[in-house]
Amino acid sequence: MKRLAFPLLALVALYALAGCSGGGSGASSTPAASATPASGGVAATSQYDSGPRAADTPVDASKVDEGKNLFQTKGCSACHAFGRRLSCPDLAGVTHRRTTAWMEQQILHPDVMVKTDPISHGLFAQYALQMPNQGLTPEQARTVIEFFKQTDLAGAPAATK
Ligand code: HEC
Repeated sequence: MKRLAFPLLALVALYALAGCSGGGSGASSTPAASATPASGGVAATSQYDSGPRAADTPVDASKVDEGKNLFQTKGCSACHAFGRRLSCPDLAGVTHRRTTAWMEQQILHPDVMVKTDPISHGLFAQYALQMPNQGLTPEQARTVIEFFKQTDLAGAPAATK
């Protein structure tokens, strides 16, 4: 009996440390104060950041050219580059940092993300600039992300002018 108790406790502690919010077991001895947003409703963890990074999923090669085109015609390239920091985050390696779902939300709803998502909020704090909503459709956002994935796969900074 004693032998079982310790690993179990360790598991419970790990579970609590990981900040997992799903399926509470009724063990409510630790106050959940840290989960309460301190200000502005920014969540403690990003709900879009779990799962494989975008670069770990296969590239849809048929979308890459259109994605590159959208990146240039939808205004993204005015602020972002690859391997170079303009006024905004350098997008080289972005698909190794983020999930597809997170980037899609950032592209479609940057105004909401900056207020509710901790990663987006952190970038905003760092760059002191709010990414504007460029009016892409969800399909267009995913197409641009395929271009990002291909650019990271190729390894070299893309020559986007
Ligand atoms: C006015 C400049 C501006 C434009 C235009 C812009 N962005 Fe951004 N972008 C930002 C800023 C600033 C951030 C950091 C988050 C914030 O502060 O809102 C960001 C963040 C991002 C991120 C996350 C970067 C990271 O390191 O995680 C992605 C991906 C992104 N933008 C893609 C795009 C795409 C695609 C477009 C075009 C549809 C675009 N952006 C247009 C300024 C811009």
